[in-house]
Amino acid sequence: MPIHVVYPGSFDPFTLGHLDVAKRALAMFGELTVMVVHNPHKEAAFDAQTRIELIRQSLIQAEINQDALHFDVLAEGLLVERCLEIGAKIIVKGVRNGADAEYEFAMATVNRDLSAVETMLLPAAPELAQISSSLVRQVAALGADVSKYVPASVASALKTKFERR
Ligand code: PNS
Repeated sequence: MPIHVVYPGSFDPFTLGHLDVAKRALAMFGELTVMVVHNPHKEAAFDAQTRIELIRQSLIQAEINQDALHFDVLAEGLLVERCLEIGAKIIVKGVRNGADAEYEFAMATVNRDLSAVETMLLPAAPELAQISSSLVRQVAALGADVSKYVPASVASALKTKFERR
């Protein structure tokens, strides 16, 4: 029987590291909601709906079973409250390094205190551990090819976005 888990993040943009975590979480738990957390006060490369569309395309291209996948946007309020509303009691996150781990331990503790929602931390695949959305954004904005770091649909959306400027 599948266990419904939530994979939250800014995903601005979704990277190959995120794709790897999503695939592994789905293989382990069987049902996954990708939760795009959108901070309206923070400037983003892509709006939340575009991010979801790019993630959806990336997961289709990766031949991931779409039946077990859901997408959601959190624009305000607590992540754990939304998790409980949609019937998920586990959050999944990727951890790339010690700094990530420290930050994620603190968030996991607060989230569990708030709601008893647990967090499962997945160590990033070593070959993907250096990829971050912020670096991808910076490099893409300077006109470089980022197709080594992001799914094809995201690389093409970044190219279009920064070509237009
Ligand atoms: O990809 P990111 O930006 O590292 O993801 C962090 C995110 C968005 C998952 C985190 O900031 C979050 O959960 N925000 C939702 C608001 C919330 O519940 N905050 C309390 C967490 S302790």
